[in-house]
Amino acid sequence: APTLMPVQEILQSGVVPKGYLLTKDDYQLGNDGPPSLMDTPTIDFSLLSSSSPDELAKLRVALTSWGCVQLVNHGMPLSLLDEVREMSKQFFKQPLKEKEKYSSKGEDLEGYGNTNAVQRGSLNWNDKLHLQVYPEDKRQLQFWPENPRHFRTTLHEYSKKNLMILRTLLKAMARSLNLEEERFFELWGDENEDNTHARFNFYPRCPMSDQVVGLKPHGDGTAITMLLQDKEVEGLQVVKDDRWFRVPVIPHALTILVGDQMEIASNGVFKSPTHKAVVNPQYDRMSLAMLFIPSLDKEIGPLEELINEERPQLYKRLKDYGQVYTQSIPSGKRPIDMMKIN
Ligand code: SIN
Ligand code: FE2
Repeated sequence: APTLMPVQEILQSGVVPKGYLLTKDDYQLGNDGPPSLMDTPTIDFSLLSSSSPDELAKLRVALTSWGCVQLVNHGMPLSLLDEVREMSKQFFKQPLKEKEKYSSKGEDLEGYGNTNAVQRGSLNWNDKLHLQVYPEDKRQLQFWPENPRHFRTTLHEYSKKNLMILRTLLKAMARSLNLEEERFFELWGDENEDNTHARFNFYPRCPMSDQVVGLKPHGDGTAITMLLQDKEVEGLQVVKDDRWFRVPVIPHALTILVGDQMEIASNGVFKSPTHKAVVNPQYDRMSLAMLFIPSLDKEIGPLEELINEERPQLYKRLKDYGQVYTQSIPSGKRPIDMMKIN
């Protein structure tokens, strides 16, 4: 696939190429006016750690209806969140020549660049830096920026803390469904086996922001995605009941998105929401998605405990969900729809 110019460089030319403008082939929902703000309560992570029944119930309700929650009191130092946001902005602010040292080439998943290799409809108004962080021996350091200076050590520290939060969250999610607390954790919690990727997103401001999209509507192929949003600029939207909702910016929160693999494991109890990122006309926006993905050798499928007469098995079992992803591209369908038993 041809490599496209980074969106940041396009911006400097002042013209939005036609390929980025939304077309009728792009995913549409009913025309229901401007999206409202998602009005779900925040989840207090410290109460999840202590197994507060009320907080577990709140978590279950939110993940069942929205598939998205904002986690506060997660114990991550706020200065670390700021540092990660800052170093991400600093990386993308550098001249192209410097960033190109870390460019993805050919089939590389990892590295810096434009995200539009394989697409239907319009292109994403998004540049990314994609790095695998776990298992540690799979790190490809040639893609890890040397500037800003502390980038590598800060990402290492942030990833480690994210993984600890993930483990507690997975246990809480299992308990909220009256499962053995290790059930989800067994599937995804092993840093020597399972994969964690860090995806830094950069959405340059766009003079025609209402005619482009930062990241097209999609569901994540992960178990869980833990998102650090821009501290000031809003942009994430999720679908609920066939309507778009804006996910508010809460500067010290981590935004949790249920991924397809969790929807499958929970036999459809937890929802992997369709979401997208929109672009701002005046301000650049960043986000960092930590993508937790089980080892491809592991079979995924609904947990036995969640299959019963009332709720028969809704999804097939298989290994290597990545392949389902690739297969779904020509159809424009969500990969998870290809997993449904009908
Ligand atoms: C994503 O869908 O992974 C990123 C969304 C965002 O930038 O908020
Ligand atoms: Fe996503």
